[in-house]
Amino acid sequence: MTEQKKKRLIVAVSGATGTVYAWQLLKVMAEMDDWETHLVLSNAAVLTARQELGIGQNDFESLADEVHANRDIGAKIASGSFLVEGMIVVPCSMKSLSAIANGLSDNLIARAADVILKQRRKLVMVTRETPLNLIHLRNMTAATEAGAIIFPPVPAFYADLETLDDMVGHTVGRILDLFGVEHKGLVNRWPGISDALKKD
Ligand SMILES: Cc1cc2nc3c(=O)[nH]c(=O)nc-3n(C[C@H](O)[C@H](O)[C@H](O)COP(=O)(O)O)c2cc1C
Repeated sequence: MTEQKKKRLIVAVSGATGTVYAWQLLKVMAEMDDWETHLVLSNAAVLTARQELGIGQNDFESLADEVHANRDIGAKIASGSFLVEGMIVVPCSMKSLSAIANGLSDNLIARAADVILKQRRKLVMVTRETPLNLIHLRNMTAATEAGAIIFPPVPAFYADLETLDDMVGHTVGRILDLFGVEHKGLVNRWPGISDALKKD
C-alpha cells in the first residue's frame, strides 16, 4: 500500500462565463508542492474558455497533475475510495448545478460531485448566472442542504483591488481559503474599518 502524501483537490470547469477563475486557480495550485489537482473540463467549458481567454483545452490540462475526461464515469475520482480533500466546480453553470443538486450523475463532473457529497467531503460550487430564476435558486438550496457551498464569484469592492486580475485573484484566494490552501498575495484581508471613516 502506498501512502498518500499530497493533499488532493478535484477541479471541475463547466461552461459558465468566468473560466478565468479556473485558469487562475489552477495556476496557483500548480505552484503548490503539497497539493495534487485532478482536472475535469466539460465540452462547454472548453468552448467558453476559447471565447473568453483565447486558450485551449491543452493549456488548461498542462496546469493539472492529472486530467480526467468528463465522459469517463469510470475514472478513479468517481469512487468514494479516492481520498481527496474536496472538489471545486469553477465556474459552475446552471446546468451542472442542476445535475449535481438533483443527483443526475451522467458525466464525471456530476458523478464526482455526487461522491464528494455522499462521502461528506467539501464541495464548493462557483455558480455563475444572473439574474437567477426560481429553478436556479431551488437548485442552490438543494445543493446547500446536501452539504455543498454555493460561492458566487461576486467581487469584493471594499477590498482595494485595482485590476480585474486582482479581483479574480481575491475570489480565487477566498475559494482556496475554504480548503486551507496556504496561498500568498491573492487576498487583501480586511484590516477593519479605518478610524477616519468612523467619523462623520
Ligand atoms: C460564452 C458562453 C457563456 C456562458 N455563460 C453561462 C453562464 O454564465 N451561466 C450558465 O449557467 N451557463 C452559461 N453558458 C451556457 C452553458 O455553457 C451551457 O448551459 C452548457 O450546457 C453547460 O454545460 P456544462 O455544465 O456541462 O459545462 C454559457 C455558454 C457560453 C458559450
